Amino acid sequence: MSLATGPLLDRQVNAVISRLQATRRRPADGGPLNNPAGDLDPHAYAEYGFSIVPEQGELIYLLCRAQRATRVAEFATSIGMSTLYFAAAMRDNGGGLVIGSELVPEKVATARRNLAEAGLVHLVDIREGDARETLRNLGGPVDFMLIDGWPVGQGPSLARQVIEIVAPQIRSGGLVMNDNGEADYLAYIRNPANGFRSMSLPLKGGTELSAKVS
Ligand SMILES: C[S@@+](CC[C@H](N)C(=O)[O-])C[C@H]1O[C@@H](n2cnc3c(N)ncnc32)[C@H](O)[C@@H]1O
Repeated sequence: MSLATGPLLDRQVNAVISRLQATRRRPADGGPLNNPAGDLDPHAYAEYGFSIVPEQGELIYLLCRAQRATRVAEFATSIGMSTLYFAAAMRDNGGGLVIGSELVPEKVATARRNLAEAGLVHLVDIREGDARETLRNLGGPVDFMLIDGWPVGQGPSLARQVIEIVAPQIRSGGLVMNDNGEADYLAYIRNPANGFRSMSLPLKGGTELSAKVS
């Protein structure tokens, strides 16, 4: 018997993740943070995932299994890489719901195709539109929230706006992962007055993991 190299054992799911990893590419213009025109429009990047890396996905899967999570949510879904790890954990926990969010319709369609190929689409509700609206009602306390956002020009980051909307909906003992380390997001999540305890993990140059303790 061969030994597993990660916590997610399902071959069908791992095949989709491997394909997305192998075809991962960066936009020639540098992407929303680096393109010379300063274009931040998510619709301009419908073909690019900007997805989490496998180590982050495996940690999501492992923590959701440890929590026996049954309701999780994410901002945002993009092509569904993070959604695959969440949905696999829901299925392996015996059932549950992943609430996704995505502004760009083409990405919603791609994510649904990827989840269907992995045999997981029945566990996922991808809400198309602005996450600041679509995540206002998660239908009950969530066990795990991913905040994997997108840059905006001015004002509070999307990550900060979304955590303020979802924080009251995270259960006590629930977890939050953030990929981009937006300064105003970190100021919120690291302020004990907001009910979380938080640390930076050495994954993808700094991944913030936080637990709701209030
Ligand atoms: C970093 S990517 C998410 C990657 C995804 N978690 C994965 O692992 O594949 C951020 C996504 O946010 C989407 N987005 C940007 N603004 C949004 C908004 N206001 N509401 C919902 N989605 C938004 C973008 O289209 C983009 O696909």
